[in-house]
Amino acid sequence: MKNIVVLISGSGTNLQRIVDCIASGEIPDAKISMVIADRECFGLQRAENAGIQNYLIKRGKSFSENLKKILPENTDLIVLAGFLSILDKEFCENFRGKIINIHPALLPKFGGKGMWGMNVHQAVIESPEKQSGATVHFVTSGIDEGEIILQKSLEIGENETAESLAEKVHQIEYEIFPKAINLVLMDS
Ligand code: GAR
Repeated sequence: MKNIVVLISGSGTNLQRIVDCIASGEIPDAKISMVIADRECFGLQRAENAGIQNYLIKRGKSFSENLKKILPENTDLIVLAGFLSILDKEFCENFRGKIINIHPALLPKFGGKGMWGMNVHQAVIESPEKQSGATVHFVTSGIDEGEIILQKSLEIGENETAESLAEKVHQIEYEIFPKAINLVLMDS
């Protein structure tokens, strides 16, 4: 049984998808041992509802240090599912190959500092891009720069807004995130 720790900052629909995929066997032989948020958010309630141990660690300079203190020793994979803090360099290096993140665009485009959530979709809508999508990648100390595990694209519609794009991208995320988790767990 592989142990997954999920880090969140928001509504946690991707967390919910992972919970559901574990329950249905789409992600086999795994469990979420802990959910950690860096701020108050609905995702913590989802963890609570699913009976998963959950903690809030205040965001800020000591986040990674505090995370390391409560991270279960047997953690096989750390999944960033809509997590908005930046993990420090030492933490990323210690857990190299064991942290993955989902990003709501086609990296390497529309990544880096400030590129999160609706900011990403707004930037895509204002650009001449005809496609967007979602990317699951390994986390390194360079923001959104780690090796890509899975990516899927979609066509941007004529009257697309940042909000409608966010909705479409979320559907793609629900599709590729469980697959990417399985790929990484297979190799761990
Ligand atoms: C997702 O779209 C995810 O890709 C994005 O936050 C959203 C979280 O939604 N992550 C980032 O922007 C990280 N840079 P959720 O809370 O409903 O899973």
